[in-house]
Amino acid sequence: MENNFGKLLGYEVSDCEIKVSFEKREAYFTVVRDEIVRVYVPFFDENVKSKAIENDPCVDADFTVEQDGAAIVISTEKVVVKIYDDFVVDFYNAEGKLLMADYRGERTTKEKVSWMSLEMLEAEGHDISGYLEKPCRYQLVKKLDEGDDFYGLGDKSGFLNKKHYEYENWNSDLPQAHNEDFKALYKSIPFLMCLKKDAEAYGVFFDNTFRSNINLGKENTEYFFYSTEEGNLDYYFMTGESLVDVVGSYTYLTGTTPLPQLFTLGYQQSRWGYESADDINFVVDNYRASNIPLDVIHLDIDYMDNFKVFTWNEKNYGKPGELFDRIKGLGVKPVCIIDPGTKVEKGYSIDDEGVANDYFAKDKDGEVYVNAVWPGDSHFPDFGKEEVRNWWANNHKVLTDLGVGGIWNDMNEPASFHGELPADVVFHDEDRVTNHAEIHNVYGHNMCRATFQGLKDQTGKRPFVITRACYAGSQKYTTVWTGDNQSLWHHLQMVIPQLCNLGMSGFAFCGTDIGGFGADCTPELLCRWIQAAMFSPLFRNHAAKGTKDQEPWRFSKEVVDINRKYIELRYKFLPYIYDLFYKGETTGLPVMRPLVLHYPNDPEVRNLNSEFLAGENILVAPVLEQGVTKRMVYLPDGTWYDYWTGEKFEGKQYILKDAPIDVCPMYIKAGSIIPTYEVVQYVGEKAYNKVELLVTPGEGSYEHFQDNGEDYAYKNGIYNLYQFTTDANGNLTTEMKHQGYSVYEEVSVVKLGF
Ligand code: GLC
Repeated sequence: MENNFGKLLGYEVSDCEIKVSFEKREAYFTVVRDEIVRVYVPFFDENVKSKAIENDPCVDADFTVEQDGAAIVISTEKVVVKIYDDFVVDFYNAEGKLLMADYRGERTTKEKVSWMSLEMLEAEGHDISGYLEKPCRYQLVKKLDEGDDFYGLGDKSGFLNKKHYEYENWNSDLPQAHNEDFKALYKSIPFLMCLKKDAEAYGVFFDNTFRSNINLGKENTEYFFYSTEEGNLDYYFMTGESLVDVVGSYTYLTGTTPLPQLFTLGYQQSRWGYESADDINFVVDNYRASNIPLDVIHLDIDYMDNFKVFTWNEKNYGKPGELFDRIKGLGVKPVCIIDPGTKVEKGYSIDDEGVANDYFAKDKDGEVYVNAVWPGDSHFPDFGKEEVRNWWANNHKVLTDLGVGGIWNDMNEPASFHGELPADVVFHDEDRVTNHAEIHNVYGHNMCRATFQGLKDQTGKRPFVITRACYAGSQKYTTVWTGDNQSLWHHLQMVIPQLCNLGMSGFAFCGTDIGGFGADCTPELLCRWIQAAMFSPLFRNHAAKGTKDQEPWRFSKEVVDINRKYIELRYKFLPYIYDLFYKGETTGLPVMRPLVLHYPNDPEVRNLNSEFLAGENILVAPVLEQGVTKRMVYLPDGTWYDYWTGEKFEGKQYILKDAPIDVCPMYIKAGSIIPTYEVVQYVGEKAYNKVELLVTPGEGSYEHFQDNGEDYAYKNGIYNLYQFTTDANGNLTTEMKHQGYSVYEEVSVVKLGF
């Protein structure tokens, strides 16, 4: 590969960093831990700090460095890195298998970039006429091997396997229906995982917030590449025994999803266009009247006075306290939307304060920058400054004092109705002055950090924040939803790949707008969507203003009964989902998992878009097409039991399952112990003092977590950890691994498939 580093000269080691010198510049390799190596060249500014990785992740791993012929070789217990002239770098696993190699040829398009900016190239006397007009700071071109499959990348649209597609990391709010050819959606999570033909796995995290491209063999099937307009070259290579280990390494770096409050896993209702307190009360009352559980109702922008954040529309919504008190009395927690855009209006205290204190982004001439969002002309808080984040966090007090259950952050790409913010709008990265080009992809991330901090300080509870835009690592602060989908069957089909890839990219707590946001939802589509989303971590039905009503009780008795059945099933499995979060806080593993995560050696599952695992024990194969009542289901290795009939199946085969409109095919793995709770209308309706274990044949072992479901007391030992084991006949033994909370009065067993 042609570049401008020149010949290798030598290396110097200090602690876990290896400075490698070439004729023209230096590159830094850091052994983060046995399976993670960072590669860093400060092309842009060495003062840039990672937004995704907040603490120094380096442990004192053993490694060696030596000159071996033409290469400098760095070896840890798990990774071998070989570095050659011109900054050609290859990564191997400990067994000597080449995992990720630099591509030795040239890219075949006209776009030809250098390790240096175009200006620098020109200064060096190169003819730059054949280059793209837009300067590309650097690119990383890697060899694409036959059999390589790609996963991760956060919320990108399309299928599970990203091979042969191209994507852009630039948080985008685009009005068109999300199709598989979309390059960018709302989030930028530049974490890519590769599963090689023989099931070796590795991951790469490109930690740069500027606009970047990831092309996975679309341009040419010989290579894949990452390229970016600007920023430092800063990527982490990670390997492990399996994809599971790679997810573990990535979340080791960027953080895991913290344990949420239990009620946030209940059913949630939202709509843009609940125009008054009466509308909200009507919806809540209908849930209770139809006996369909409901834990959360979302208040969209309608609740504000003229869409001004941190205000209340008293005209239509009455006294805020009154509405909150009434619905909370029915067990429903209100979640309020807060957008970043702050209406330009004299006398509006939030905007006045922001202007007076210099809290908003400015244009290049030093004027407070204005663009339009829902409230009309608006200012944009400069969330990169700690002072601004603290101010924003404190603003939430008006809502937390009323007992808000969570905050929904939207429009934080940032979206802007008068065209995109120019690249040179001035923002801060803490004390460093920078611009929109660098901050754009972390605007949502910084906003969510502020929201999280506000909720945490003001309530003492585990904050419930939902965001549309974010960056890698935001999972520490917020749950995400996939933005404005539509009531289309192909958007239902996208739920599984999108949520599974988000999950493997660290975002265990994610969901889609159930029923679809835009367009009108049919009764059948809603039934199937609720079924498919039953294990979606965020279980929220949301719709756009003006679309047909899609609350689950708005339909015929048959449809309402089906919707109730699945929402009830969700409540039944709540302790299992909660356990997955509890474990995920340590392992980084998501709730919704593609089969390929646990069965990487099975070629049948590499492109399986229509089934997923909830944890390791439950396989869900929802119907995703209109009118379809039979479903081909692939069962991976092992023995599986039909949840509905108890019928036993050996895995590694396709089976045909009858799936009329009221059946979502589900299979439980042999040797499972799955905790279930009594169905309630909302979390907190009754104390959960009984647990019923769903047990399948085969010896099983399972750890179950129990706490108050709300705050951080569990961090101080106020929780129980039960170790359940079953023998082949389903006889249960319980051992308390930790006891610090009131224990269940009853633990019972229900056998399936015996
Ligand atoms: C955006 C959000 C959507 C919300 C609407 C109004 O389109 O994605 O969820 O309902 O704004 O606030």
